[in-house]
Amino acid sequence: MTWTVPPIAPERLPGLLAAMPKAELHLHIEGSLEPEMIFALAARNGVALPYASVEALRRAYAFTDLQSFLDIYYQGAAVLLEEQDFHDLASAYLARAAAENVVHAEIFFDPQTHTARGVDMGTVIRGLARACADAPARHGISAALILCFLRHLSEREAFETLEAALPYRDQFIGVGLDSSEVGHPPEKFARVFARCRELGLRIVAHAGEEGPPAYIWQALDVLKAERIDHGVQAVHDPALMRRLADGRVPLTVCPLSNQKLRVFPDLARHSLPRLLDAGLCATINSDDPAYFGGYVNENFRAVFAATGLRAEAAWRLAANSFEASFAGNAAKRDWTQRLQDCFERWHDDKA
Ligand code: ADE
Ligand code: ZN
Repeated sequence: MTWTVPPIAPERLPGLLAAMPKAELHLHIEGSLEPEMIFALAARNGVALPYASVEALRRAYAFTDLQSFLDIYYQGAAVLLEEQDFHDLASAYLARAAAENVVHAEIFFDPQTHTARGVDMGTVIRGLARACADAPARHGISAALILCFLRHLSEREAFETLEAALPYRDQFIGVGLDSSEVGHPPEKFARVFARCRELGLRIVAHAGEEGPPAYIWQALDVLKAERIDHGVQAVHDPALMRRLADGRVPLTVCPLSNQKLRVFPDLARHSLPRLLDAGLCATINSDDPAYFGGYVNENFRAVFAATGLRAEAAWRLAANSFEASFAGNAAKRDWTQRLQDCFERWHDDKA
């Protein structure tokens, strides 16, 4: 099916960006833990926090790079102990996403952050999976889980994590790779991901956030990643850009994350317009919205305002998010039709 993108007046673009249906494919559920919820869960679970108030915690969110963020992010997750905590966290995110016209979310979780503190794998997955299963009825959106391995830990620990998660194999659709990138290339996990592919799991990996294009090549060629999370460093390698464009390999780009972690000197110099110009299947996502100052719609608003992207790019990014998702073709067609209807309403001034 070919679609025609109705022209949209520039002053109507911010409203359209918020109103259009979209999928979110790069969201760490632990990164949606708002400071208020950290304090509420700490009180509920009797966990001591090294911050006197929500404001004091927020003041600590002054990151200089990925590692400076991860140190605080793992500390925040320590308030998650019970199945209900994981459920409440995911349910709060899904409510927020639905309010921003996200129609489908594929949600990362980091089990090793929790099992290292003595939380059982089943506690984590059951809580998150229950919120995802309830999402269509409760929030009007669909949701699925992707288990991420922490790349700063060993291959052996990744294998142990996979083993512990296998009793819940039907509760997650795929696996990813996240945490400290530089010094931990994808090839470190070649054998774990080979086993995951044998198990029929979908494969994604963070690559080219702070790390070099070589890590993106490895994610593709060694891990056989079907999507690259971030991937914004691909612009430094023309052959890689051609490979990503020709293969329609999606990139899940997170503009506010890149701004806060200083991947680019400022948002105006983000590589997103270059990725789109080169014909890549780029998407916009929020990564860790509680830490980076905005959920998916704020990511759209901010990067469009900073780079001057226009309505055609909005269409492309939303359509890409559906194409890049692991949902079925019927759902993808339905969402794309809803995107078309939305653009027509905004074009006709009826919205
Ligand atoms: N875990 C949570 N957010 C992350 C990011 N932006 N990069 C790597 N690991 C992460
Ligand atoms: Zn991420």
